[in-house]
Amino acid sequence: MSKRVSSPKRLEATISPPGDKSISHRALILNSIAEGSSTITNLCVGDDREAMLQCLRALGVRIEHQPTPNGTEDRFTLHGLGHDGLVEPSTVLDASNSGTTIRLVSGLLAGQSFFSVITGDSSLRSRPMGRIVKPLQQMGAQIMGRGEDSLAPLAIRGGGLQGIEYTMPVPSAQVKSCLLLAGLYAKGKTTLHQPAASRDHTERMLERMGASISVEHLTLTLQPDKPLSAIDVRVPSDISSAAYWMVAAACHPAAKITLLNVGINPMRSGIIEVLKAMNARITLSEHRSEGGEETANITVETSELKATEISGSLLPRVIDEVPILALAACFARGKTVIRDAQDLRVKESDRISTTAHGLSLLGAKIEEHPDGMVISGIGSLRGCTVEDYNDHRLAMTMGIAGLLGSDETTVNGSESVNISYPNFWHDLRVATGATEDA
Ligand code: S3P
Repeated sequence: MSKRVSSPKRLEATISPPGDKSISHRALILNSIAEGSSTITNLCVGDDREAMLQCLRALGVRIEHQPTPNGTEDRFTLHGLGHDGLVEPSTVLDASNSGTTIRLVSGLLAGQSFFSVITGDSSLRSRPMGRIVKPLQQMGAQIMGRGEDSLAPLAIRGGGLQGIEYTMPVPSAQVKSCLLLAGLYAKGKTTLHQPAASRDHTERMLERMGASISVEHLTLTLQPDKPLSAIDVRVPSDISSAAYWMVAAACHPAAKITLLNVGINPMRSGIIEVLKAMNARITLSEHRSEGGEETANITVETSELKATEISGSLLPRVIDEVPILALAACFARGKTVIRDAQDLRVKESDRISTTAHGLSLLGAKIEEHPDGMVISGIGSLRGCTVEDYNDHRLAMTMGIAGLLGSDETTVNGSESVNISYPNFWHDLRVATGATEDA
């Protein structure tokens, strides 16, 4: 399916982006092995969520979905099985397109003495799994996979784990969370040294559930001496989904968009800092704290952007926002430099190459580098037909580019937004009246 998008005269909207995907995955997986029942509201929507739900159900977890007419107040009731209640799955677990699902569930499986196999779609089967397999093997799990144990499908016989002290080569929240989940099943403590800070939702939630976890600068220590207690979670809106509208409003000549109840955990809100450094008009209001995570409403208005540099320890804090920030850079005065972003090459697509290719078709001036891009702001883009590269974040970046281009853009493969934001095209239509099925 394709979507045609052109630039409206005005862009004005109040939008509730979907529930945060990272927090949702953690609320589901940790409550599954906790004692007691929990209720989760504003859970993320889309195919990645379904992948996680299916894996957990196949492991014996009972999860009830109580839908509501407009979907926004849906409740999920999860009956925790406690530390030792998971059962051997009778079939292959399918994480589909979701890196968070395969990496977090593999950590959990490494702690179980039963046999399991987990795989995913062709994109996921090409993404690096050595980064979790090696440390899990060091902890004592038996794991085999394609490409000398570096690619899914992964066959896992876990159990009998020993805690390890491990220096992580990449600043990845998925790897960290995978090893913390395995650490819950290990004998002795697990200590992780991170090269840079990444999203800390797992640590926050584990602490709220009663786990003995301590964080000192970039080092985490988990002592698996206490059972987890189930907790209710109200999931904040996802800043990675809000990001598209933040950039749309900052770059459009007559715009004001408010995003409601967005999670602004400091490890996720790098985009606010980057856009502020670019001179964007952003205000935060209605600050709240819900379930150990901070939220706020974010309003962004038409701005005169200037170039910036995105590198170093900032990268993990904007890792999913680089494609849309590259679009913002096209509208900023000067050259924006993005470096230290090599991990983008192993996301749902090679996001350095797909972002550079897609935006170049629209007239952007982008130099691709092994670990990033240099983008010369040119202040305008044209319309044309572009692809989604089978990547939800590229599809949405191209959709927003269509809102800012001088003529119509057609996005082929628009349904890939179903991975994380199924209502994206609907929200775009409401904000602008500017899109229709091609
Ligand atoms: C995620 C961590 C990040 C991010 C992904 C979600 C998570 O991946 O890109 O979309 O929920 O832990 P990495 O850990 O591979 O950086």
